[in-house]
Amino acid sequence: MQNKLKKLQKEIIDSLGKVKDLKALRELEIKYLGRKGELTKFLRGIAKLKEEEKKSIGKLANDIKNKLQDKFNKIKEDLSDTDTKGSYVDVTLPGKKIKQGHLHPITIIQNELEDLFKAMGFMILNGPELESDYYNFEALNIPKYHPARDTQDTFFIEPHPDLLLTKERGKREAESDLVMRTHTSPMQIRAMQKYGAPLRCVVPGRVFRHEATDASHDNTFYQLEGLMIDKDISVSSLISVMKEMLSGILKLDAEIRVRPGYFPFVEPGLEVDVKCTICGGEGCPSCKHSGWTEMIGSGMVHPKVLEYGGIDPHEFSGFAFGMGIDRLVMMRYGINDIRLFYGGDLRFLSQF
Ligand code: PHE
Repeated sequence: MQNKLKKLQKEIIDSLGKVKDLKALRELEIKYLGRKGELTKFLRGIAKLKEEEKKSIGKLANDIKNKLQDKFNKIKEDLSDTDTKGSYVDVTLPGKKIKQGHLHPITIIQNELEDLFKAMGFMILNGPELESDYYNFEALNIPKYHPARDTQDTFFIEPHPDLLLTKERGKREAESDLVMRTHTSPMQIRAMQKYGAPLRCVVPGRVFRHEATDASHDNTFYQLEGLMIDKDISVSSLISVMKEMLSGILKLDAEIRVRPGYFPFVEPGLEVDVKCTICGGEGCPSCKHSGWTEMIGSGMVHPKVLEYGGIDPHEFSGFAFGMGIDRLVMMRYGINDIRLFYGGDLRFLSQF
């Protein structure tokens, strides 16, 4: 009797070891522990035994049955865990949203400007942010010690010691006075020297001024420089290109106004204002109640500057302009603080 019981127990434990899913476990449970199961039948058989045998076998058989039942329960738990964690997929759940970045508002407008000018036959050029004093000032008709230098607060940069290897070279580099470019205008000279005339180019890029920051000034901002050189270029060419550009970007028929302005590298120099897009010209705080917003510095390229660029001023003439991209973006979207562009605040940036 005892041997038979042990054999049955071993058989059940072996079968349990091979069980892989809940269905097979259920079948085994019915086969051995069910109402007509083999172990159940065995236990019923004990009733017919003699009194002493009944006592010893009965206790053993009950112990074995309880232990086996525990084992079944434990395996059932493990299997149901893996069933839900491992292989159950709810295909109706929404997918994980992938966070996607997007272009900065300044880049959006810069791209639009580039497209506008490409359509008018202009090249798009890039220039160095670290410039020489020569290109940033001298060749633009702003000599050393000239008061016009004071109109742009400049970050001057000490030359790297590696550039000062020999005395002679050290002297040259030190004299070149590196600056963080204060405007994109140095590219006028670089472009003229490289491509000659006739020439149409625009140069978007970052510029730097040693300024105290406020809602409309920052020490870093973006400009778009433009240069057009050909025979018979006049102020009227300049005005029509400015109107075309502003209408294209502000998405309206832009009304502009031209006033005299001073820049050493143009003659005559002109300031181009656009009718305030916020109040429509009535006057409001953002246009300082004048109805107009100052947008662009421009003018006819100074003959001396053409000469610096290697172009004969008797044969060619041209216009140049420089515009703050930040200000244009602020007008287009109604943004009231330039510092928002560089703050990296997602509450601001994710609106574009
Ligand atoms: N470089 C000038 C500025 O930063 C703008 C300008 C460009 C004016 C070209 C005239 C011609 O203020």
